[in-house]
Amino acid sequence: MTPPFRYRKLGYAALTVTDLARSVAFYRDLIGLDLVEQNAQAAFLRCSRDHHNLALYSGQQSGLKRVGFELESQAEADKAFAHFEALGLKPQRVPKDEAQALRQGPSFRVREPHCALEFEYYGSTTVMARPYVPTVTKIARLGHVVIGSSDFAGAYRSLTQDFGFAVSDFVEDRFSFLRCFPNPFHHSLAIGASSSNHLHHINFMVTDIDDVGRAWHRLNKAGVKIAFGIGRHPPSGSVFLYFYDPDGMTVEYSFGMEEFPEVGAREPRMLEPVPESLDTWGAVPHADFGRRGAILPA
Ligand SMILES: [Fe+2]
Repeated sequence: MTPPFRYRKLGYAALTVTDLARSVAFYRDLIGLDLVEQNAQAAFLRCSRDHHNLALYSGQQSGLKRVGFELESQAEADKAFAHFEALGLKPQRVPKDEAQALRQGPSFRVREPHCALEFEYYGSTTVMARPYVPTVTKIARLGHVVIGSSDFAGAYRSLTQDFGFAVSDFVEDRFSFLRCFPNPFHHSLAIGASSSNHLHHINFMVTDIDDVGRAWHRLNKAGVKIAFGIGRHPPSGSVFLYFYDPDGMTVEYSFGMEEFPEVGAREPRMLEPVPESLDTWGAVPHADFGRRGAILPA
């Protein structure tokens, strides 16, 4: 199947948090993001040359507000808008002043109807003059966002057909790792079957396995609750650590990820639905692992 439009990458995740100052301190000082801008309602943090890779909004209910994906060009963004319009999904242009505040070119939003997650698409974003300088952790990039959905089959079909994601690996009827084709990373988005639509976790990839080990001690010392790990994910082999942000939302650091070529990529693998498909080191997830954080309406 020809993908309907071409992605560049997962640009940012937008979270709503109940105490903005507390969450800014957490993501800046303990996670290692660079705070670019902050006002009374929102804060923008980054781990790359982009203006933001994490947007935090102040609100009553914590959760995932939207995910932003950068497409390869403005032409791809125009193509995507027309594509969603033709599907009847009613894409909405982001008002110009809001797109400018996000330091993005023309942007639009569209909600996936089964998992209820809002996607934002744009063809260009500001390259900041000052490079991202790692502090406590050498973050390589915002890696992925994982959600649970009460309509896994519907969301899976829509994300792979209408939203243009490619399947990298899956557990039949239960879980799917999705890459934003032709971006090479094994997954920038993943979706699992659940009793409700909710955020599972957001991930930051680190450049060095030592970053995961150091994070274990740094987070424990700071009293941050660990959700799962340290462990190693099969079949990707990535080393992971999951922990909770101040609202109890799950955040992950991981080291290592398979990359796919645009042409001639291997077929997706069907994984055995057992706990060992999550971790080979025997870590046991905490009860709230991947459970806190709603998928929020606009
Ligand atoms: Fe993950």
